[in-house]
Amino acid sequence: MKQCFLNGKILPLEQAHISPLDRGFLFGDGVYEVIPVYRRQCFYWHKHLARLAASLKKIHLSFDTNELNELITPIKQLIAQLPQTEQAVYLQITRGVMPQRLLPIPATCTPTVFIISQAQAPVETLKITQGIRCASAEDIRWRRCDIKSISLLGAALLTPNADSAIEETLIFRNGFLSEGCRSNFIVVKEGALHVPLADSRMLNGITYQVVCDVARACGRKVIEGDISTADVFAADEIWLTSSTREMLPVVALDKQPIADGVPGKVFQQVYAKWRQHINSDGWLDV
Ligand code: PDD
Repeated sequence: MKQCFLNGKILPLEQAHISPLDRGFLFGDGVYEVIPVYRRQCFYWHKHLARLAASLKKIHLSFDTNELNELITPIKQLIAQLPQTEQAVYLQITRGVMPQRLLPIPATCTPTVFIISQAQAPVETLKITQGIRCASAEDIRWRRCDIKSISLLGAALLTPNADSAIEETLIFRNGFLSEGCRSNFIVVKEGALHVPLADSRMLNGITYQVVCDVARACGRKVIEGDISTADVFAADEIWLTSSTREMLPVVALDKQPIADGVPGKVFQQVYAKWRQHINSDGWLDV
């Protein structure tokens, strides 16, 4: 039976109950993390932990850092219980249960902590070798995309249908690239990586940070700054990055080919190094 962690206990998923008066359920008042697991080990645990602590701080939810760090113990237990070695841990913390729906938030509250680990299938080889197709859209989300909020309605409305050939939506705000619905994007021009500045318009993706480090180790320049819609369409390459999809080359955007419409040379170089990095223990920090 599948197990989960809820408020201090590991228990079968079917026995995990959350009150409908939980502010996460009523208002989307909470934050989350998705942590990739390779060979039963959390990928860059401390980077994910630091982002979670930052998200909690930004929503004024005080949480002891030691207490957060101790969550690694139940996480390891959940990982051990699955037969698959490759997984993704989902960790959600909400502001907790209030006695009535519209009470002001009390100074102290008991957050709800929920964790589950799920098997993660490898990224489809075809997507890596032949690339993915994406669409573009204007951002309809809120102004604090740096917070990994569980309120994902805006992203859900921008997400391509499951049965479409479109993998992801590139989101633009006022004519500049921000990110994807659940991913980041990197634009390659003349051999250099161009990335949007990780400000409140996007989530500072862990994969995006690691891919940029791997690219630097390959001798590539990484340039941060605004990337216009025209720059995106004129890119030599576009890459998607995310914890669950790793790195993927975008070969078409709104049905227009990106450069030659095939995965680029820089992608192939950095992807090979990325695979080596995943297969090493260079990221193991717990
Ligand atoms: N999403 N931007 C958004 C809006 C995201 O939701 C995500 C991740 C990313 C990439 O971040 P990272 O590289 O740390 O995964 C960027 C996760 C995978 C999800 O919601 O399932």
